[in-house]
Amino acid sequence: MLKGKRILLVISGGIAAYKALELIRRLRERGASVRCAMTKSAEQFVTPLSVASLSGEKVATDLFSLTDEAEMGHIELSRDADLLVVAPATANILARMASGLADDMATTLLLATDKPILVAPAMNVRMWVHPATQRNIGILKQDGVAFVGPNDGEMACGEFGPGRMAEPLEIVAAIEEQFGRPQPKHLTLVQPAAGSRTASVAPLQQDLKGRRIIVTSGPTHEPIDPVRYIANRSSGKQGHAIAAALAARGAEVTLVTGPVNLPDPSGVTTVHVEAARDMFSACFLRLPVDAVVCAAAVADWRVAVEAPQKLKKSGDEPPSLRLAENPDILRAIATTDAKRRPALVVGFAAETEHVVAYAQKKLVAKGCDWIVANHVGEGSGTFGGDENTVHLVRRDGVEDWPRMSKADVAARLAERIAGFFSAGGKTGARVKSAGKKA
Ligand SMILES: Cc1cc2nc3c(=O)[nH]c(=O)nc-3n(C[C@H](O)[C@H](O)[C@H](O)COP(=O)(O)O)c2cc1C
Repeated sequence: MLKGKRILLVISGGIAAYKALELIRRLRERGASVRCAMTKSAEQFVTPLSVASLSGEKVATDLFSLTDEAEMGHIELSRDADLLVVAPATANILARMASGLADDMATTLLLATDKPILVAPAMNVRMWVHPATQRNIGILKQDGVAFVGPNDGEMACGEFGPGRMAEPLEIVAAIEEQFGRPQPKHLTLVQPAAGSRTASVAPLQQDLKGRRIIVTSGPTHEPIDPVRYIANRSSGKQGHAIAAALAARGAEVTLVTGPVNLPDPSGVTTVHVEAARDMFSACFLRLPVDAVVCAAAVADWRVAVEAPQKLKKSGDEPPSLRLAENPDILRAIATTDAKRRPALVVGFAAETEHVVAYAQKKLVAKGCDWIVANHVGEGSGTFGGDENTVHLVRRDGVEDWPRMSKADVAARLAERIAGFFSAGGKTGARVKSAGKKA
């Protein structure tokens, strides 16, 4: 869809400017040509040399450059594009655009065009919810400017809320939709409540509406006899938070949970199970769905033969327990037939050492698409705690997330899942058997 399209990318001076580099790559690999203009502030974050190297084109920075004007005048540059994209769009450039200012190369190009404009705002949450920014956005919307994002999540400044730039693939999807209107739902702005200056009241985008997602959570209890069982230390806090975060974005969520001391999250259908085999059936019964997040700490083994009555001390040797392997829920879902396999299968890996390396192996061995790998070593406080340190391991790379609350991990994962679907929902990892590389 983007083959042969000419995109003029305006990069303004926000911390997310580095993501513009990936955006250029993603657009070019889809056959678009990308010319770039940068504000002076943007040059503080990424160099024109990197932008020129990735775009394969000279970068427009200086309005009064005689050589640039002689080669391709700014009016021509602006009119030559099929679409202008501003990513990241700072609060400052939005204000300048809304006021019709043309005081540097970037804003002059944006004013001198009659082509559609798409902006991807990126800023601190307080800047985003400020009435001035919201007023400018209202003006730009009236002028026909389209928006993608921003997303909710933790920001470079450490605050949480709306203001993070949409991911490069989400911007690509929004650009594709610009070329194939009508406007999609996710170009709709997240609008904070009138007069609000706080992030918490801003409604989340309902970008998972219509998606059916299963989340597993908690430990499993593997019975030894009617009163005893084998268990693990999982509290279910992370899985429950993920179910709630997905539901908050509009997904129809079924939470299949082992025994936990947590209330059922609201807006979620919760199915309570005890043992791994019950969890397995509860999940399989509900396929097909769009995505599965296997956050439960499922016991690898159960007692091969459950005693029908309570085992009694006999005074002789203590009884020995023979173990049998439990079904591997993650692997079974990831490698099931194409009709039932969800587009996205996310597993969890709890490791005490070599966390990322083991997770990468697990990704391949299970045939799943993403692994959320977390540290559960001594002193990590992960089991039962309210915080987590995770890495999102995908086939094409690893994201190291800073230590954050389990609710924030859940919100960030939900955002990634929404991004996955808005970018077309393809992992290229529809493997038939474990171990096969995508
Ligand atoms: C480290 C740092 C990060 C910044 N990140 C952002 C940002 O993400 N969004 C934003 O609107 N402004 C951000 N700013 C402020 C802008 O750089 C500043 O408003 C600048 O005037 C924007 O210029 P421009 O819109 O012409 O690029 C940041 C400033 C600094 C020093």
